[in-house]
Amino acid sequence: MRDFIEKMPKAELHLHIEGTLEPELMFALARRNNITLAFNGIEEVRKAYQFSDLQDFLDIYYLGTNALLFEQDFYDMTWAYLTKAHAQHVHHAEIMFDPQTHTDRGVSFETVITGIHRALEDARKKHKITSKLILSFLRHLSEEAAFKTLEEGAKYKKWIAAVGLDSSEVGNPPEKFQRVYQKARDLGFLPVAHAGEEGPAAYIWGALDKLGAMRIDHGVRSIEDEKLIARLKETQIPLTVCPLSNTKLRVFDKMEDHDLKKLLDMGLCVTVNSDDPAYFGGYVNENYIAVQEALDLSRDDLYQLARNSFEASFLKPEEKKALIKELDAYFADNPA
Ligand code: HPA
Ligand code: ZN
Repeated sequence: MRDFIEKMPKAELHLHIEGTLEPELMFALARRNNITLAFNGIEEVRKAYQFSDLQDFLDIYYLGTNALLFEQDFYDMTWAYLTKAHAQHVHHAEIMFDPQTHTDRGVSFETVITGIHRALEDARKKHKITSKLILSFLRHLSEEAAFKTLEEGAKYKKWIAAVGLDSSEVGNPPEKFQRVYQKARDLGFLPVAHAGEEGPAAYIWGALDKLGAMRIDHGVRSIEDEKLIARLKETQIPLTVCPLSNTKLRVFDKMEDHDLKKLLDMGLCVTVNSDDPAYFGGYVNENYIAVQEALDLSRDDLYQLARNSFEASFLKPEEKKALIKELDAYFADNPA
């Protein structure tokens, strides 16, 4: 099953590019840029990656980004992820970036997006991986700051497909960004949002009804609300679930408690993703393997999850069709 999962064609739809910065690259960049990090070495960094909740993780995650200063740094980080994704048979990736984490440190929006974009284009040519970029607003910051970030993002509209909402969820409900999302949709950005990771099901309703979210990042707490489950099933609004993230951040105590299989069995459009792979102990394949083993997922479940990853993407219908055809061929060529 492991080998079968590893080579299965798939898309990744919930990935923070800053969350792919491995300690080795973090230190290499710090050395190159002549800066001192808050950690004394790679081992110390890895030891710090024991989190009690989302905020505990975010505090360390934002510290790690201090190594990123120049366009080449953003290129190298993005290229490293795409190389890994290619090796894991990811054919398409929809990647979030947090401009405010960098602009608030004096790194320009242009520096960030130019480095990321150049790597995406190189991977498109070299690895045949297609991709989309999602500009994510930091929800612990103000509406005004989000508007400013959107304004900068609008200058790079041709490189950015969607807007997202991440960072500290509880206490920062979707409603706070209703007007920003209205503006973003008017500008032609597709709306997605983190909701129902640590926050309640009410935040998922908010993301759907106040932000117009076309996809919910995480959304695992939807299970607490029967009406919401019915809505998600009927509309097939996808959930981008991140199993290793959820156990590392104690949303579920152990993988056996994860509700992914229940949501899938209820007919929701569930997908598997890595969120912040450098911090949570695995890229997308390790996430598939962890849930397959803990929840005893069948080949049919795996097919559905991989198929959902293409269906839930922002690719064009004909592009989705071509990828699903590859998935079908993979299952046909590798009988149980
Ligand atoms: N949740 C909220 N914010 C984030 C996450 C997450 O899982 N990863 C990176 N920023
Ligand atoms: Zn996330």
